[in-house]
Amino acid sequence: MKVGIESLAVHVPHYYLDLKTLAEVRGVDPGKFYQGLGQEKMAVPPPDEDIVSMAANAAYRALEGIDASSVDTVLLATESGIDQSKSAAVYVHHLLGLPANCKAVELKQACSSGAVGLLMALAYVAVHPSRKVLLVTSDIARYRMKSSGEPTQGAGAAALVVSAEPRIVELGQESGSYTEDVMDFWRPNYMDEALVDGKYSIKVYQRALLRAWEAYASLTHRSLDDHHRFCYHLPFTRMAEKAHLHLVHAFAGGKTRGATTDALAKIRSSLHYNRLVGNSYTASVFVALSSLLDLESDLEGRRVGLFSYGSGCVATFFSGVVLPGYRNFVQAERHAALLREREEITFQRYEEFYNYRLPRDGSECATPRHQTGLFRLAGITGHKRIYERVAAEPAEDRQGTPERKGAVASIS
Ligand code: HMG
Repeated sequence: MKVGIESLAVHVPHYYLDLKTLAEVRGVDPGKFYQGLGQEKMAVPPPDEDIVSMAANAAYRALEGIDASSVDTVLLATESGIDQSKSAAVYVHHLLGLPANCKAVELKQACSSGAVGLLMALAYVAVHPSRKVLLVTSDIARYRMKSSGEPTQGAGAAALVVSAEPRIVELGQESGSYTEDVMDFWRPNYMDEALVDGKYSIKVYQRALLRAWEAYASLTHRSLDDHHRFCYHLPFTRMAEKAHLHLVHAFAGGKTRGATTDALAKIRSSLHYNRLVGNSYTASVFVALSSLLDLESDLEGRRVGLFSYGSGCVATFFSGVVLPGYRNFVQAERHAALLREREEITFQRYEEFYNYRLPRDGSECATPRHQTGLFRLAGITGHKRIYERVAAEPAEDRQGTPERKGAVASIS
C-alpha cells in the first residue's frame, strides 16, 4: 500500500520587506543578505494574520477537491503557539468545518515538529487506510530588531493531506533521527522574540544532518546518489547550500571533481520560494518541497530526500518518490500568483507591523484590516481570539481558482 502526500498547499502573508531596504536602514551591504544569507525578501504578517489564520488559509487550499469527511485527524505543528492550553488545530478544524468525529492537536519541537508530525501521519494512515490526516505547519519567525537574526525572519504556512491515496509524493516510513539537548535557539514563554546563538546553531544543524543521514542510510542502505533532489529546512537558503555540501563532502566517497556544482544543482529549485519568504520554521521544509515540485516538471519516479532540523535540537532525514501525474495536483500557478501579487512595504510599515501587540489584559480589540487570505484574525474579546472568513474574494480566487464546495463552515 502506498502512503504519502495527496495534496500540498502553501500560504504566505501578502506583505514583504525587501532585504535591500533593511540593509540600507541598518547600514549593511545588501550583498550580505542577498548573497551571504541567500535571502531577498522576508514575509511580514500584518496584525490580523497569525498562525491560525495562515494555517486555515493553507489548509483550505490543501483540501480543495478532497472529501473532507475522510479527515479524522488534524495535526498542527508550530513554535509560535497562541495559547498554552488550547491547540491551534482546534481553531483550524472549526474554520474549515471539518467533521466533529475528528482529533485535533498541536505539536511542538522548534522547526522539526512538522516533519515528525508527517511521519506520525504516515504511520497512522498505513494502519487506517480509509482515513486522511490534515497536517498543517504554520509559523512566524521573529527575532529582535537590529539583531543578526533580523534578516532571517519570515512567515508562512504549508498544509498537507496525508493519505493512502497519494497523488504527489509517496513517502517511505523509514527515517533517520537525531536528538541532542543544546541551546542554539529557544523562546522562553515570556518572550515574543527567539533567542539564538546563530553561529553555534549553524554548526549544530550540520552535525545533526550528518547524524540523521547516517541513521537513515544504515536503515535504508541508500546512498546520496539514490536521491535525485534534496529539500532542507531553510532558515535562510545559504544554510542549505552549506549543509548539503557538508553532507556531500562527508559521504560522497571522495568524489570531489565538479562535486560542488552538481551538489548545488540538486537543491536549487527547492530554495526559490524560501528566498522570497524567509524562515517559516515548521513550514519551511514543506515550502521547499512545494518550490521544487512547482518548478520542476520531470520529477516523476525520482527520489527526493528531506531534512528537517529543529533547534534544541531534533533532526530527521526521510525521503519519498514523486508520483506519476504529480503536476496535475501541485498548486504551482496559485503559488506563483500568491508570491507575485504580494505588496512590498516600507521600513516604517515593517516597524508598525512588528511593533503591533494584541492586548494581554483581556480588553476588547478589533485588529486593523489588511489584506489576508480567506481567513483573518478579527480581534480579541475577553481573552479569546476571534477569527473570521473574509467576505471579499482574494485576487487569486477572482483569477480562476475554483472555490471548494461544501467543506467550509461560515464563521461568525
Ligand atoms: P551574521 O553574524 O550577522 O552574519 O549572522 P555573518 O557575518 O556570518 O555573514 C553571513 C554570511 O554573509 C557570511 O557568509 C559572510 O561572509 C557573508 P559565510 O562565511 O557564512 O559563507 N557576507 C557577505 N556576502 C556577500 N557580500 C557581503 C557580505 N558580508 C558578509 N557584503 C546568522 C548570520 C545566520 C548567524 C544570523 O542571521 C542568525 O543568527 N540567524 C538566526 C539563526 C539561524 O537561522 N540559524 C540557522 C541554523 S538553526 C535553524 O535552522 C533552526 C531555526 O530555524 C529555528 C528553529 O528550529 O526553530 C533557526
